[in-house]
Amino acid sequence: MPSPPRSPAAFPATRPRRLRAQAWARALVAETTLRPADLVWPVVVASGEAFEPVAAMPGIERVPVRALPALAEEAARLGIPALALFPNTPRELRTPGGEEALNPDALICRAVRAVKAAVPEIGVMCDVALDPYTSHGHDGLMGPDGTILNDETVEVLCAQALVQVEAGCDVIAPSDMMDGRVGAIRAALEAAGHTQTLILSYAAKYASGFYGPYREAVGSGGLLKGDKRTYQMDPANRAEALREVALDIAEGADMVMVKPGLPYLDIIREVKDAFGVPTLAFNVSGEYAMIEFAARAGALDRERVMLESLMAFRRAGADAILTYFAPDAARALKG
Ligand code: PBG
Repeated sequence: MPSPPRSPAAFPATRPRRLRAQAWARALVAETTLRPADLVWPVVVASGEAFEPVAAMPGIERVPVRALPALAEEAARLGIPALALFPNTPRELRTPGGEEALNPDALICRAVRAVKAAVPEIGVMCDVALDPYTSHGHDGLMGPDGTILNDETVEVLCAQALVQVEAGCDVIAPSDMMDGRVGAIRAALEAAGHTQTLILSYAAKYASGFYGPYREAVGSGGLLKGDKRTYQMDPANRAEALREVALDIAEGADMVMVKPGLPYLDIIREVKDAFGVPTLAFNVSGEYAMIEFAARAGALDRERVMLESLMAFRRAGADAILTYFAPDAARALKG
């Protein structure tokens, strides 16, 4: 981190407003940039033929597979490098063991194939976690006493990762927070010859209320029994986030993520400074909803606070941002 000058000149030799007086000067000295290339577009996939609005996320719809080619072309046109796909698995396919996660013809696999067939040059990211597939809404397998089993879950996650990579997924993003899963997935990928698959680890993922609208979008909210505090992190902790990130890098993550985003900008900055690895942030569903509802109520200028929030991520050190605002932000940035 650049340190401030030891003895800045005093007023009136220094008048900081001189650099703010004209647009050209502000542009010249801006410290941070925000480009469409810094954005990842999260898309929830619908299992039927229709677009389905998500009540908790005004403006967001689940997208049917048939519409993904056009969406991918739009992303490419806007300069958005990658999509993150999430399936809304039909209720009847959700089981205690989440077996649908291993189906090579599952909704997520059909979605990946549709995107890659239409726009091969766009990056596709897939979550590795069982919550879109389990009837109890948890990210892992549940033991008889209700605990989420770690090592048994990791085995399933490795198989899930392979299924998704074989469908064409470029980036495996473990979002489950089981211990040791990044190393196990990396070993499974290597053993299967998938040496070029990227792993984006949701490394510092907090047990957060800001995921509420997402759980509605992927249909796991109403099913979730209890909460995720035995595997997702306590919002009180920062040193633990650094330990989690260190572990995931050592286990083979190419990129790490901090999640949620805006309430955790301090963690993004610390992770970026401590490790210097590609660091992504997830501007999650609840953060989207806050701005969207406030803007619809006339309380905020939507475009302005959207771009200001995304710039804040970049200022905090995020290399890229997963954000539901991606297409609108890219459009606004393109001017
Ligand atoms: C699932 C997962 C979650 C999100 C991404 N992957 C929610 C959760 O852990 O319950 C949240 C995304 C968002 O809120 O936008 N493992």
